[in-house]
Amino acid sequence: MPNVALVGTQWGDEGKGKIVDWLAERFDVIARYQGGNNAGHTVIHDGVKQVLHLVPSGILRPGKECVIGNGVVVDPEALFKEIDRLQEQGVETLGRLWVSDRAHLILPYHHGIELGSEKRRGKDAIGTTSRGIGPAYQDKMGRSGIRAIDCIDRDVLAAKIASNLDVVNDLMRHLYDREPFVADEIVEQYAHWGERLKPYLADTSLRLDTAIRAGRNVLFEGAQGTHLDVDHGTYPFVTSSNATSGGVSSGLGVGPNRVDGVLGVTKAYTTRVGSGPMPTQLDDEIGQKLRDVGQEYGATTGRPRRCGWFDAVAARYAVRVNGCDVFVVTKLDVLDGIDPLRICVAYEVDGVRHEEMPANLTSAKEIVPIYEDCPGWKGSVIGARTIDEFPEEAKAYLRRIEEVSGCSVGMASNGAEREAIVQLPGGPLDDLVP
Ligand code: GDP
Ligand code: IMO
Ligand code: MG
Repeated sequence: MPNVALVGTQWGDEGKGKIVDWLAERFDVIARYQGGNNAGHTVIHDGVKQVLHLVPSGILRPGKECVIGNGVVVDPEALFKEIDRLQEQGVETLGRLWVSDRAHLILPYHHGIELGSEKRRGKDAIGTTSRGIGPAYQDKMGRSGIRAIDCIDRDVLAAKIASNLDVVNDLMRHLYDREPFVADEIVEQYAHWGERLKPYLADTSLRLDTAIRAGRNVLFEGAQGTHLDVDHGTYPFVTSSNATSGGVSSGLGVGPNRVDGVLGVTKAYTTRVGSGPMPTQLDDEIGQKLRDVGQEYGATTGRPRRCGWFDAVAARYAVRVNGCDVFVVTKLDVLDGIDPLRICVAYEVDGVRHEEMPANLTSAKEIVPIYEDCPGWKGSVIGARTIDEFPEEAKAYLRRIEEVSGCSVGMASNGAEREAIVQLPGGPLDDLVP
């Protein structure tokens, strides 16, 4: 049975939540491998909107098992807020949701460090989600992180927090001009979270291995997107983890040969929230129309998303670095009535033409997108349930996305609701979705 990785191919918010929710019915286990509650994955079913931040979107499908892997950074307060909200809605998590005992935790001082560091960056701020993500990953890589397993042993927890605060409070006092943190308060708080976490903790690598050996299939849920990946994204305007498919193996403790296919979720246009280059950004009425019709406001921070045309340079790069087998194109309905549509096929960066994503995008003085036009369509793709019901121009637009990206399109999403999906049979998706 196939195990499939689902990744965002752009700058996040491609509609991964909706697609994971749709696919989850066909998989047994849904596992998050990176990121934290910087993610906001929206699922709309029967008119009810749910935004998942840390818990995999598969939790909304009864009976499915969900995993938060070692590669995720977990803010216990955010996790239990989400768990409590799910519980109120009748969604049971105990016995279905497993958190890696090796996952690193986000601590209150990570928020303090992030606020201080973003402020010091001034106009060069990353525009983070302020969830403490970057500093938590810094501690992990710096070998001073606190892992989920640490907070169920009060002595271990107290020693680690005391040692970390030694440095952190110097930063607060002397660099960031912020109040120092009190060790006892944090120990008290996190020992409490430890008690609540205990029944959720597991060696999730082992659980996944057991599941895969038993023939159960796993959907690996990515957060953020390819161009926010710390290695492959528009550095330094990225998040602090590997959002690309390579993160699955390290972030869950499963061998790379367990990933049978990679599905790239791609918005039919481009959005970005936070700072950093976005070559196809539109600051005109079309950009505003995409934002209004597509409801392009951050699911985590509520910030307006920057909007623009489909970027095939970014898409081709995503196909390569993730090994995408198939694309799911979302939000096609948002393009209803826009004519012509434009696709960026290359960039001119400081006078040099690039067909492939250049490494110096963030330091470029001038980025000029090179577009080709595609005819838009009259009428709407909304309500269609088969590809035959799409206007000819919408079919042609999807075909053009395939050609310029070098990846076959297996599904198109034409509305925010769970049911608004059109499958394009006969491609690689048929082999990947059980
Ligand atoms: P994610 O972070 O990749 O899960 O994406 P978000 O949930 O942050 O943002 C995607 C937004 O688009 C959400 O509000 C979804 O409800 C919505 N959405 C997803 N697919 C479609 C679609 O095909 N059409 C429309 N109109 N909205 C969609
Ligand atoms: P989902 O999973 C869109 C962006 C932030 C900022 C940068 C770094 O919903 O697609 P961070 O808080 O991670 O240190 O911020 O990354 N960012 C996202 N943008 N969707 C997301 O997640 C994002 N998670 C982080 O806006 O520019
Ligand atoms: Mg999102």
